[in-house]
Amino acid sequence: MDKIVIRGGRRLQGRIQISGAKNAALTLMPCALLTHEPLTLRNLPRLADVDTFGHLLNNHGLSTTIEGTSPDEFGRVMTVRANRLTSTVAPFDIVRKIRASFLVLGPLLARAGEATVWLPGGDAIGGRPIDLHLQAMQALGASIEVATGYIKATAKGGLAGGRYRFPIVSVGATENALMAAVLARGSSVLENAAREPEIIDLCKCLMAMGARIDGIGTDTLTIEGVRDLHGATYTVMPDRIEAGSYACAAALTGGSVELVGAAAGDMGATIDALRAAGVTVTTTADGLAVSASDRLTGIDIETAPYPGLATDMQAQLMAMLLLARGRSRVTETIFENRFRHVPELVRMGADITVNGRSALVTGVSALRGAPVVATDLRASMSLILAGLAAEGETVVSRIDHLDRGYERLEEKLQAVGADIQRIGDD
Ligand code: EPZ
Repeated sequence: MDKIVIRGGRRLQGRIQISGAKNAALTLMPCALLTHEPLTLRNLPRLADVDTFGHLLNNHGLSTTIEGTSPDEFGRVMTVRANRLTSTVAPFDIVRKIRASFLVLGPLLARAGEATVWLPGGDAIGGRPIDLHLQAMQALGASIEVATGYIKATAKGGLAGGRYRFPIVSVGATENALMAAVLARGSSVLENAAREPEIIDLCKCLMAMGARIDGIGTDTLTIEGVRDLHGATYTVMPDRIEAGSYACAAALTGGSVELVGAAAGDMGATIDALRAAGVTVTTTADGLAVSASDRLTGIDIETAPYPGLATDMQAQLMAMLLLARGRSRVTETIFENRFRHVPELVRMGADITVNGRSALVTGVSALRGAPVVATDLRASMSLILAGLAAEGETVVSRIDHLDRGYERLEEKLQAVGADIQRIGDD
């Protein structure tokens, strides 16, 4: 298993190209199940999760062809096509690898009137139930059979438009409901729907395929079902979490970095938090410029559904605050177990006390490099960030987590002066 070795203390200077958004790509790819025509996605990031999802679509009978881009270019062009579906079963060995596999439920029901999907199960950050996905499908006329380890959904005669109010905001359940409703008979209304930018990207892609959706960007989505969707070419939005992560890297190292391709409009709450901590953030013609010269100031942050502060930024912002002046209270309201990076950061000299959903960070004068273990995708990034600012050497293992969500991370950081290498286990 590869590891990443960082020798900290360098101010990051230069430009980082931001890739296509992982969490947009993983909801755009299943859209190809909704039509027999080709769906071409541009600016797809080179990530393990995208490859895994491609294998899942192949399992359903879709072809996934990557148009030639030179290895050093960012963003792939993938054309996905399902002349006919060969299977409506999403197998355990793929679903267990990434939770997003569950996003084939809605489109399979819409296209084929049935879907058998193995349960994604919980993961390091929480139980990750799927009850809201199932309730939304039932609101559209599907019948659900829950068996041991998998669910079988059927909609004989196709889905019928319906109304569903999400009891709590769920990104994935909103995505499944949207991809089901677009081919349902009649109109559907989704209330208390997620408003994340990735949802807007999904709606825009579905509209490009001929879907009819109103209320895009709001918490009430009205979908007029259509008989068929056609193919389209769609460009994946830039990754707001990757951009926010590298912004934290610039801030923590006292550097100055331009995030090329970053969309400030998707990052409001993150930018507000950076500025409150004393980071200079300005929009540029190419994206976002982030710099910090003095010691940062401790701030209180609390995650929330969009437009609140993204839970996917919590671990990275916590890392940024480890050397700040004063105290910071970090509150995680979305997932019940998303402080697994804390013990590893404490081993690097951080002063963090966890009490339920809140972590109290007291700024220290220095961090020291140490061998640390990544536990989940965003926790891994917080360890990388701490290593960039620590004195001495940090060795991060289990970086398979990182490869799921950060395209060519060490190359991007090397390009702005970081002393960071990937080493094989031997
Ligand atoms: C998506 O996960 C993202 N993943 C997550 O990013 C992100 O953290 C999360 O949304 C919140 O923004 C992808 O887009 C692939 P949810 P998702 O349904 O859809 C509860 C990353 O690091 N819930 O919005 O699984 C759930 O337990 C990943 O890139 C139910 O109770 O998240 C959680 O507490 C991590 N029942 C809350 O809702 C359900 O049926 C929000 O989860 C579904 C969810």
